[in-house]
Amino acid sequence: MFKAIRKLRESGVIGINERNINYVNPNNPRKLLRLVDDKLETKRVAQAAMIPTPELFGVVRDARDMKNLPNLLTRDDGFVIKPAQGSQGKGIIVVDSPLRGGWRMASGRRIAMDVIRFQINNILSGMYSLGGQPDVAMIEYRVKFDDVFGKVSFKGVPDIRVIVMRGIPVFAMLRLPTAESDGKANLHRGGVGVGVDIATGLTQRAMQHDKLIELHPDTAHPLENVQAPYWDDILMMAARSYDVTGLGYIGVDIVLDRDRGPLLLELNGRPGISIQIANRRGMRYVLQEAEKISAEKHPAAKRIEIAKELARAAPKNGAVKVDDDPSAGG
Ligand SMILES: Nc1ncnc2c1ncn2[C@@H]1O[C@H](COP(=O)(O)OP(=O)(O)O)[C@@H](O)[C@H]1O
Ligand SMILES: [Mg+2]
Repeated sequence: MFKAIRKLRESGVIGINERNINYVNPNNPRKLLRLVDDKLETKRVAQAAMIPTPELFGVVRDARDMKNLPNLLTRDDGFVIKPAQGSQGKGIIVVDSPLRGGWRMASGRRIAMDVIRFQINNILSGMYSLGGQPDVAMIEYRVKFDDVFGKVSFKGVPDIRVIVMRGIPVFAMLRLPTAESDGKANLHRGGVGVGVDIATGLTQRAMQHDKLIELHPDTAHPLENVQAPYWDDILMMAARSYDVTGLGYIGVDIVLDRDRGPLLLELNGRPGISIQIANRRGMRYVLQEAEKISAEKHPAAKRIEIAKELARAAPKNGAVKVDDDPSAGG
């Protein structure tokens, strides 16, 4: 066990402690983390910078808003209810369409109005928020996934996670919902993570529950060599998320909408480290290089060129066969 961890460390895989001490703490001042720990705040700063996000239909803050709830849930093409301060997909309901006396969820199961009310009350009480403080429930547009990923996905919207070091995108992964994850792509919910090459936007190796896999567990579709569309737009949104928040080490979550293209879903100030397993590669080399280069303060377009160059150079310096779990997931 210890030998395995040491081996991983030597080969460039970072663990949770290293992430916190070397990357999160020095790059993400507590004051700025507020911008990303609350999804309403993130939407606000993104919109101000013309970064597109899923449309907000409404917010439920108290009993009075709760009375008005039926007026917010009128869309035939569904909606998503989520805690503004949630994480790891907890407390999120993805609703596909109305169904007599209720709605159909992404999983196909039915959900009734009183269950939705109950769930929103749980959100307001802080059941899903960091530290358990009272929270608010957001109701937003349900993203309609792009067909490219439709073939490899299952009942829900895939998202693309990009790790951005001081404005330079360094690592990426495509996350796919599964039957188990009920419309959410989060790895903790049983979603599949697929490494994506920053230089090309092509998918590489895949994993579920921190184990390597080759086929989607529900669709049996091969997961390697799928081209992520709008790749340069995705990198640009990721790079600009640094400029609009000032946070030096973030995980940027982007979804592709069939009609609206790439949309920013959320930003994470403490992004997980499992992305290294999906990529079968450690992040330390690219993180350190990006950190050095960032001193030159390049504009976003230039940072994307740099990101691609780094990705092309990295395998020689950071390649590793990851057979063992790193010390912690994320
Ligand atoms: N508006 C939406 N439309 C469709 N699916 C969504 C939407 N918002 C979230 N999801 C699904 O739920 C997952 C988690 O949502 P996210 O906003 O990233 O919250 P969390 O902080 O809990 O990860 C996403 O990866 C996606 O699969
Ligand atoms: Mg997320």
